[in-house]
Amino acid sequence: MIQEVARAKLNLALHVRGRRPDGYHELETLFAFVRDGDLLTVSPAEQDSFAITGPFAATLQGDGDNLVTRARDRFRAAFGDRRGHQILLDKRLPVASGIGGGSADAAATLRALAALDGVSLNHPDLLACADALGSDVPACLLSRTAIGRGRGEELTPVDGLAGIPALLVNPGVGVSTAAVFSRWDGVDRGPIGIGNPLEVARTGRNDLEPPARELAPEIDAVLAELERQDGTWMVRMSGSGATCFALFDDRARCTAAASTIRSAHPGWWCLETELV
Ligand code: C5P
Repeated sequence: MIQEVARAKLNLALHVRGRRPDGYHELETLFAFVRDGDLLTVSPAEQDSFAITGPFAATLQGDGDNLVTRARDRFRAAFGDRRGHQILLDKRLPVASGIGGGSADAAATLRALAALDGVSLNHPDLLACADALGSDVPACLLSRTAIGRGRGEELTPVDGLAGIPALLVNPGVGVSTAAVFSRWDGVDRGPIGIGNPLEVARTGRNDLEPPARELAPEIDAVLAELERQDGTWMVRMSGSGATCFALFDDRARCTAAASTIRSAHPGWWCLETELV
């Protein structure tokens, strides 16, 4: 049996540089990952099965097109794996929320199947599976801080952010990634920084924030609430939203902010964690 944490992804910066003829957008992004995420358990079995538990299971139930089963089927086609697998997904991250839940689940499935079959994590066919499953899946396969270019799949790992306290907050509204990208205004606001990732994050921006805020005005309230907290050095939306995050100087202030926000907004999802 293999257990994999499908860590939540944050885009500490996300610069949209242009529209591409293939319908995707050219990006420059600083990916980071947090300690917590969904939990995936895979065991060899007579027959394939897939079940979802956890606080966000209901939002995915009955969806035959889950990224986990797509990842399993792609892995099988690429590596000729003929065994069955029992897969359990404990869904702890909100769905369609800009923190890569589905992409992280797909990547965790690939990592688990690769471990069971003795396939190396940098096998080119495994990377091709990740790439075919979605733009964020290669970054989630790596699950470490990296600069992403292209659709997000051209990755350069970077060091220097581990242990930073982070608070993730989602107002409980799902946002379609495709809808947010399609509302981007087409203005190239310039490249991401180079060098120290703290500076790249600090001097960066998320170009999807304005279109996401149009679609989900609740994001304004989340950003304002995070800005009000003591000890934050960066507040931003992740991916195409609606999850926003704050990075803190120290853990005590992160804990205090989490408890303030939880009591003021009991309906919001709030995760106190740290970057890995
Ligand atoms: O790659 P993925 O399937 O996760 O992307 C979902 C949608 O997000 C795409 O269909 C596209 O509309 C949009 N997208 C984009 N440019 C990217 C990544 C995603 O336009 N670089």
